[in-house]
Amino acid sequence: MAKRTLTKQLDLIPTKASLDELREAAKSCKNCDLWKLGTQTVFGEGVAHSRLMLVGEQPGDQEALAGKPFVGPAGKLLDNALVEAGIDRKKVYVTNAVKHFKWEPRGKRRIHKKPNAAEIAACRPWLDAEIAAIRPKVIVCLGATAAQALLGKDFRVTQHRGEFVESTLAPYVAATVHPSSILRAPDENARHEEMARFIADLKKIARVLQ
Ligand code: URA
Repeated sequence: MAKRTLTKQLDLIPTKASLDELREAAKSCKNCDLWKLGTQTVFGEGVAHSRLMLVGEQPGDQEALAGKPFVGPAGKLLDNALVEAGIDRKKVYVTNAVKHFKWEPRGKRRIHKKPNAAEIAACRPWLDAEIAAIRPKVIVCLGATAAQALLGKDFRVTQHRGEFVESTLAPYVAATVHPSSILRAPDENARHEEMARFIADLKKIARVLQ
């Protein structure tokens, strides 16, 4: 395995590494301070040469405990939407822009805190390494944080959701909303509508995967 590094800051990242090697190396990442919050690195998960890579924001409480992305409530919603769109989650690589859970205490609970630009930038080399290892045909950013990480801070998911955008990252790159935004919809009707829009975005993705 070549030990040349992808970035100066992250000497941990070996080039041409397999996903397993990357996952192992990421366990000891201290490229930003989020490792100090005491939960494990949650690396991406899925088959090595998936045609589709989904990128979320950061692991939540349940993901941090399980060490796997999208296993909590947002993950369940994502699973349902993928089924409706005809996409098999077992064939998808799922990861996050930031690989540690950022949280603050509220009573006994750990409450999600949005990662800042420096934390997103600090984690970007891992995302680049995952993309280089997998070389997916399609990358989909789920929500503003992933879109900011991969498409730049001026990209607006609200304006360009479900559209394919020019990118050197993969032949097809798009963004849609984060599944947890659907969970936060104010009432049942709004949730239903948002879910339908999310599924419609995923169906566009399913078409280019065929
Ligand atoms: N939200 C995310 O963005 N990623 C996860 O893994 C879980 C919830």
